[in-house]
Amino acid sequence: MGIIETERLILRPFTHDDAERVLDIHSRIEVVRWISDPPFVLMADLDEARAWIDNWNTGDVGPASCGLAIEVRDTGVVAGTVMITKVPNTDYDERQVGWHLHPDSVGCGYATEAAIPLIDRAFAAGLDEIWCGMYPDNEPSAAVATRLRLIDRGIVPDPWYEGYSRYFTATAEEWANR
Ligand SMILES: CC(C)(COP(=O)(O)OP(=O)(O)OC[C@H]1O[C@@H](n2cnc3c(N)ncnc32)[C@H](O)[C@@H]1OP(=O)(O)O)[C@@H](O)C(=O)NCCC(=O)NCCS
Repeated sequence: MGIIETERLILRPFTHDDAERVLDIHSRIEVVRWISDPPFVLMADLDEARAWIDNWNTGDVGPASCGLAIEVRDTGVVAGTVMITKVPNTDYDERQVGWHLHPDSVGCGYATEAAIPLIDRAFAAGLDEIWCGMYPDNEPSAAVATRLRLIDRGIVPDPWYEGYSRYFTATAEEWANR
């Protein structure tokens, strides 16, 4: 799994050296309540953090299925995670892009800067369309999708998760012409 470099960021696989930071991020309700289904379960310890890291680095890992650490080049701090994953609960091979940051790294443009090359790479590898779903009231995440110029499909019955979600999408052509 290659490393991607942007102006300010190094997108790279997580290692066990990141476990404390991963735990710090995933043991916060203000992060977890946006990236999982209720009941929200906070990460409890470093063993769970290492298992979470291992999960990203094994199995079907490639341009259209990966979770990478967003490392800030100047400081070495891991700001958060950017990912492309298969959507759940379906036989269709749809992919979604996602992101989450430590609260100390919000407001710097890192999620948007990290998502662009990841989506570029997925389309270059042959992906037809990218999806991006979120809780209907997740305005910060909708703002990232809007900055990326993904197309807002509004709040719809979720095709893969329970309830309603806000979805953004882009085909390869729409992404190239955005
Ligand atoms: C969703 C989330 C990743 C958005 O983070 P974010 O920092 O607002 O988004 P970006 O990284 O794209 O940064 C954009 C912000 O940085 C600001 N910024 C500062 N310096 C910047 C720079 N050099 N370049 C670009 N933007 C910059 C922008 O103005 C913008 O701030 P604003 O919203 O106040 O106008 C973050 O809120 C989060 O992790 N939330 C919890 C988890 C979550 O909801 N994940 C998504 C689940 S669907």
